[in-house]
Parts: sequence; C-alpha cells; structure tokens
Amino acid sequence: MLESPSIPAPNDLEAHWIPFTPNRHFKRHPRLIARAEGVWYYTPEGRPVLDATSGLWCCNIGHRHPKVVEAIQRQAAELDYAPPFQFGHPKSFALAARLRDLFPGDLDYVFFTNSGSESVDTALKIALAYQRAIGQGTRTRLIGRERAYHGVGFGGLSVGGMVNNRKWFGPLLPGVDHLPHTLDLERNAFSRGQPQFGAELADALERIVQLHDPSTIAAVIVEPVAGSIGVYPPPVGYLERLRAITEKYGILLIFDEVITGFGRLGAANACEYFGIVPDMVTLAKGLTAATVPMGAVMVRRPIYEAIVEKNPAPEKVIELFHGYTYSAHPLACAAALAVLEVYRDEDLFRRAAQLAPYFEERLHALADHPHVVDIRNLGLMGAIELAPRPGRASERAYDAMCAAFERGLMIRVTGDTIALSPPLIATREHLDRIFDILAKVLAELP
Ligand SMILES: Cc1ncc(COP(=O)(O)O)c(C=O)c1O
Repeated sequence: MLESPSIPAPNDLEAHWIPFTPNRHFKRHPRLIARAEGVWYYTPEGRPVLDATSGLWCCNIGHRHPKVVEAIQRQAAELDYAPPFQFGHPKSFALAARLRDLFPGDLDYVFFTNSGSESVDTALKIALAYQRAIGQGTRTRLIGRERAYHGVGFGGLSVGGMVNNRKWFGPLLPGVDHLPHTLDLERNAFSRGQPQFGAELADALERIVQLHDPSTIAAVIVEPVAGSIGVYPPPVGYLERLRAITEKYGILLIFDEVITGFGRLGAANACEYFGIVPDMVTLAKGLTAATVPMGAVMVRRPIYEAIVEKNPAPEKVIELFHGYTYSAHPLACAAALAVLEVYRDEDLFRRAAQLAPYFEERLHALADHPHVVDIRNLGLMGAIELAPRPGRASERAYDAMCAAFERGLMIRVTGDTIALSPPLIATREHLDRIFDILAKVLAELP
C-alpha cells in the first residue's frame, strides 16, 4: 500500500480557488481524496469511498490501472515533451490511427487538445475555417442547445446553455442561436433509456434556418446525451432528424462526446451507439481515462481535405492557424494508447453494455423515494432529479452528496439532480452498494 500524503491543516486549503465548488462551504467541510485503486477512492485518513461517478465522468477504466501507470512512467523516463508545432513524436501518430479505427464513416482525422473545452473551441473554429475554405464564408453562425454543457471556453460557453455558467460573462460570441432542450417531464418522466416523445424538437432547427437563412449557419453542436445538466437521453428519432436537417442545409453537425465517448453508453462512442456519423466529434475524459489531461477532435475527411489538401497556399504555409503547446503531449499519448488497450483487452465497452440493464433496474427502483421527481438513464449514465427546497435551489442534492460521502460513496450533483456514471469495471456488487447507500441517503434527506 502507498503511504497517504499528509492531511493539510485547515488554513492550507485557503490559497486554492476551487472550480465549480462553493469554496466557503468546502473549506469548512473539505472532502479530500488522497489515493485511489480500481473503483475505490481513499480519504487521507484511509477511509474507502466508492467512486460512482468515474471521478468526473472520466475514469472509465477505474483508477491506477497497472498497465497505464507503467506506460506513463516509461514515457516520462523516455521523452518528456516534443513541440507539436513543426515537429512531432511517433506516439501521436500511432494514437491518431487507433482513434480513427474506433469511429465510423470517414471520421479519419484527429486534432489533439488538452481538455473538453479546448476540443469544443477547436471544433467550432474548424467548422468556421471549413465553411470559408469551401467558399461559404458567410456561414458564421453557430447553433447550440439550451441547457447544454460544452465546457468553459468562450466558444463552448456561447453554444452552451446552462444559465449560471453564462450569465456572469457578458454577451459571449455573437451570432449564436440555441435549439430547445429535450427534457419533457410531463410526457417523459421516469422513461427508461431514450424517451419516446420529443423527436419533433429537432425541427426547431428548421425554424432557426428559416429565420437566419442557411447561408449564415456554419454548424450545430449537441451532446448526443446531455450529461452535465443531469443526463437527458435524446428522444427516440431526435438525433436522426438533426442529422437529416443539417445535411439538407449544408450545416456541419458536431457531436460533443466528451462524456459519451469511450464506453459510457456501452459502445465505443455515441456515433456507433446511435448509428449516426456527424461531421466532427469532440473528445476528452475517457480518452486517457483522465490519467493525463487530453482532448481530441475527430474530423471527417472532406473537412480535412478542404482545409489542408486543397489549400491554395504554397506547401510550406501553415493550413490552420490553431493549436496548443501541449497538443499531443507525449505523456498523454502514452496514457491514451495504454487506456485504449485496456478498453480492448478487458472488453470494457461490451462489459458496460452488459451491466447497463442492471444499472437501469436498480436506478429506477429509487423512484418511490421522497423528493424524487424523475429518473433518467442510458448506458452507464444515470440521473435522479429531486424536487428543490422552496427558495433554496440545488441545496437538497448538495446535501445528498455530502451525506453520501460520509457514508463512503462519491456521487455527483448538478442543480437538484444526482448524476451517476460508475467506472466501466464496476460489478453488480458495486452497483448494489452504490444503490443501497443512495437509498439510505434519500430516505434520510430533509
Ligand atoms: C459534453 C462536454 N463538453 C465539454 C466539457 C468540458 O470538458 P473539460 O472540463 O475537460 O474542459 C465537458 C465536461 O464535463 C462535457 O461534459
């Protein structure tokens, strides 16, 4: 067993401004994690906490997998860094080829980033550059969706639709419009898997197209299953309609698969799960199972060809003026290659698919608990929506998270929704423990 790092004294917590966290409460009641293994986290005192969220929807293979640890250690000892502009290192090319094999159709090209937010901004920029490259430079509008989460860059915030994330930060990007969100508690509450009603919500894109004219619209971006807002699986037929309308008007369709990529739905990605080929796919999280930060954008061949192969500038001129110092970082590439091997060798996507029905059964068994107003799921993504306390939105779920942690369970909350996304290596016994603890927490929750 590794030795735990020492517990910081209370005033040691002060300097770190913690993201997306109520700092004042956290610093008085910290929830610290010092070690991890498999599906377990351990507090600095050594108390085990079952990880029901794969960290932050990302540690899909569980924690500290020996093959991945070894690959990262070996890479650190061999090549720490190579500039990704004008130079390269072999592993990024090997990784790109592996990723290409995991995606359907001609999603054949990979642009590396370091996070989901960067992947989203990269995809939006590639969309604009593509439209310009094919002589459609008037297509500058970007369309997102209400309640969407596409990270925290200005591009992702602009197409995103979570009000608290947007309202502090001014007008954001101009020329952005939003589709309606797909949650319909009146018709679809307590649906198992994809809800039956709501495919017609995709037709709002037709209205947006008529309002602005197709010649002004570059791309539409959606999460195939909205994750961070609290798991909204798409209504049956919805994504298919979006694909048909975008194709009809020459609008690029971007799937933000930062959460759904790499097994979360019991398939390699949502493209495969839903049988749809979008024009670009944004990735992060499960790509390295969060062992080293990394993101990527999968790009269809005609987009790459338009911007790169058919570029009218001389060959020694850069085709796309975009990239990050840490794009395709050697440590991240080594980690991702090892993680992809773990997915394959342990057949984790199929394992997730096999576990999903039991996950659904145990999740929906919580329907009769007090305060529960909806339960949603797809693959190994689940959400329990609670009624808010009058005048104190999001407090009830927050209290549930704190109570669960005390009982040895890590859950995630967003607003008044509890979100679950266990590692793909979880067993039925782990799920039993997750839902037994949750049932107790819900029963006692004021
Ligand atoms: C769909 C989606 N896009 C983008 C992001 C942003 O990713 P990151 O936090 O790595 O920037 C997230 C993060 O949860 C996400 O769920």
